Amino acid sequence: MELREVLGRRRSIRFLRPYQPVEPEKIQLMLEAARRASHWGNVGGLQALVVFRDSAPQETLDALFAPIAGYQIRKAPVIIVWFFDTRAIDNQSDRLRELLETGALGVGETKKQDLEEKIIPFFDSIREGLKGPGINEVDAGQGIAQATLMAYEQGLGTCCLGTPNGDEIREKLGIPDECRVLLLQTVGYPAESWEAGGQRPRQPFEDLFHMNAYGSAFPRSEEVVEELTEDGFFTRQGPLPWREAELEWLKKALDVPGSGLI
Ligand SMILES: Cc1cc2nc3c(=O)[nH]c(=O)nc-3n(C[C@H](O)[C@H](O)[C@H](O)COP(=O)(O)O)c2cc1C
Repeated sequence: MELREVLGRRRSIRFLRPYQPVEPEKIQLMLEAARRASHWGNVGGLQALVVFRDSAPQETLDALFAPIAGYQIRKAPVIIVWFFDTRAIDNQSDRLRELLETGALGVGETKKQDLEEKIIPFFDSIREGLKGPGINEVDAGQGIAQATLMAYEQGLGTCCLGTPNGDEIREKLGIPDECRVLLLQTVGYPAESWEAGGQRPRQPFEDLFHMNAYGSAFPRSEEVVEELTEDGFFTRQGPLPWREAELEWLKKALDVPGSGLI
């Protein structure tokens, strides 16, 4: 499947087959994809703790919590706890040196000297600030997005789950204090149809993207939209006529509690 089709068909899958375990190799593929993602300064602070429902201790499973549609955590065969290790930033100078040695960064004879005398001292002066939320979350998002697409390619479904209890989860899982829990991601084989009710709405293109000046909408070419439509990037918009019936069926089959919102 071409990238455009993958991007069009991928969606959050909240209903997973609880009876079908996920092969660790497929999770490894996701982790390999996350590791290959671009990281600012090549620091590589994104880490993951993969929890397999079949083999994890009960207290590990009990530690995981998300407030919105959190039942998913209690059903999914695999939950990936994505976190960022801020200690990686302490070694950023070495990562920059490696980038230079690899030939990715810098040109000409003075590059080594400039790195040592200008760039690294600049980063040293703002190092603690660099550990806060912001660019590190963007960094992690790159990796998680790549892992998500790799999961899709393996026929897996995933859903990202935000949690306000990151510190509590971190402590219970024994993840060091210097780390920030960012996201829980459920992974498994989809129990719902691939369309999962249809493509989900997005904010209008013109409202999101600007050209040359804020408020000046980036022109959206109809030809490009047509090309993407032909390539399968746009799929049927939800809700599909039978979605409510599918949801009822899923609720019964998977024993989803209440409205499934909590
Ligand atoms: C960072 C992040 C956090 C999310 N948190 C939740 C969540 O807590 N619960 C949930 O059901 N979905 C969560 N989602 C999924 C979004 O709601 C999803 O993007 C939205 O339903 C759009 O649909 P799509 O991914 O199917 O295209 C999250 C997605 C992201 C990227």
